[in-house]
Amino acid sequence: MSTQTAREPESLEGGTDVTFSVRGLWKIFGRNADKVIGTELETADRDRIKEETGCTVAVRDVSFDVRPGEIFVVMGLSGSGKSTLIRCLSRLIEPTAGQVLLDGEDIGAAGQQRLRELRRHKMAMVFQHFGLLPNRRIVDNVAYGLEVRGMGRAERYARAGEMIDMVGLSGYENARPGELSGGMQQRVGLARALAVDPEVLMFDEPFSALDPLIRRDMQAEVSRLQRELNKTSVFITHDLQEALKLGDRIAIMRDGELVQVGTPEEVVGRPANAYVADFTSDVARTTVLTARWLVRDAYPGERTDGPVTEPGTVLAEVLPMLAASTAPVRVVEGDTLLGYVGRDDVLRAIAEDQLSENAVAVAIEETVGELSEESTDPAERAADGDTGPQGGEARGSTPGAPSNPTGHGGPAPTGNGG
Ligand SMILES: Nc1ncnc2c1ncn2[C@@H]1O[C@H](COP(=O)(O)OP(=O)(O)OP(=O)(O)O)[C@@H](O)[C@H]1O
Ligand SMILES: [Mg+2]
Repeated sequence: MSTQTAREPESLEGGTDVTFSVRGLWKIFGRNADKVIGTELETADRDRIKEETGCTVAVRDVSFDVRPGEIFVVMGLSGSGKSTLIRCLSRLIEPTAGQVLLDGEDIGAAGQQRLRELRRHKMAMVFQHFGLLPNRRIVDNVAYGLEVRGMGRAERYARAGEMIDMVGLSGYENARPGELSGGMQQRVGLARALAVDPEVLMFDEPFSALDPLIRRDMQAEVSRLQRELNKTSVFITHDLQEALKLGDRIAIMRDGELVQVGTPEEVVGRPANAYVADFTSDVARTTVLTARWLVRDAYPGERTDGPVTEPGTVLAEVLPMLAASTAPVRVVEGDTLLGYVGRDDVLRAIAEDQLSENAVAVAIEETVGELSEESTDPAERAADGDTGPQGGEARGSTPGAPSNPTGHGGPAPTGNGG
């Protein structure tokens, strides 16, 4: 029943080292759902399909891989098909066409018994509205998945206790969900999902009901747990900042289709089309793009004794280093010199897409001028090796983000100042 995908995202690898492998996945809601694919309507837009068949195309010919250990974020506006997509992965919603492999196993071919097993042992879901049992204590809620699985009482309560501890709720074991704040309730949701030690965590807008400060705490918590427990996550959000902060890779959905799959840097630095560019236009590129993105060989005659930084350092932290030095920054990974990043490189990256070429030149001149002035006094600041002048701000906007596969997480190193 698999349909051919017209154009596959470049990141598709298949093979064994893939957690989810999704190919040509469709979900069409409505009575005549099976009468769309394979006809000339297949390529028609959503509205026309709705008009002519009464069907809603929620997910359209989607293909992607989720790699072990990554946070794969799916983002898009309301109605773009995110929830439908994540539910198709575990067949909580039955796909209309296409294939989903989990560790190489065809989910579509699994019988009811096998599906239940997979849902109990390999996947766990964290929901937007927590989904806690109101009359049960916190510890019972967290132990619930283990109970369903048939684990003995003593063992499951011991495990639940550990999970409650892990999400920072020790002391609340006997409280009821209603006595906890929203953020705390979502920690319970997280503990419950983690308790079954699933291979994959699935999050469907888990933090959208939380206020911004609590939300930031919870994002940091997910980052931390992801790193410590080495889980694979599929995380849905319609918040771009959240996607950039958490995602190792981000899939951007529009009208049921994936318009781009890439790292935060790729999505922001090299948007696939005008839609993605527009979507990401408000993002401060300096907090997303890193030295690795810009690294190049030295120009002839260029100084090669500048400050040293790691490839994962965001540009917001590279800038003050450049301001304090007339030589380009040396980008070093372990013992390997990857190359150099100079002032012009950074400024061009910031200005790209937003200004005409001429304006870029002017902006570069002006900004370099400003930076040089600024750098007369804080030379020692930049040389102190730990907090650059903008360090606090930059970290504030990307707290603890293991936001790319380069291993950049936590406080970014700012080099030795030369
Ligand atoms: N059970 C259903 N029956 C019919 N249409 C549905 C059903 N579930 C979803 N849809 C439609 O499919 C499309 C995608 O919905 P979906 O809930 O997947 O979007 P979403 O991206 O999760 O949106 P939100 O951000 O609002 O949660 C929408 O047009 C929606 O109306
Ligand atoms: Mg949804």
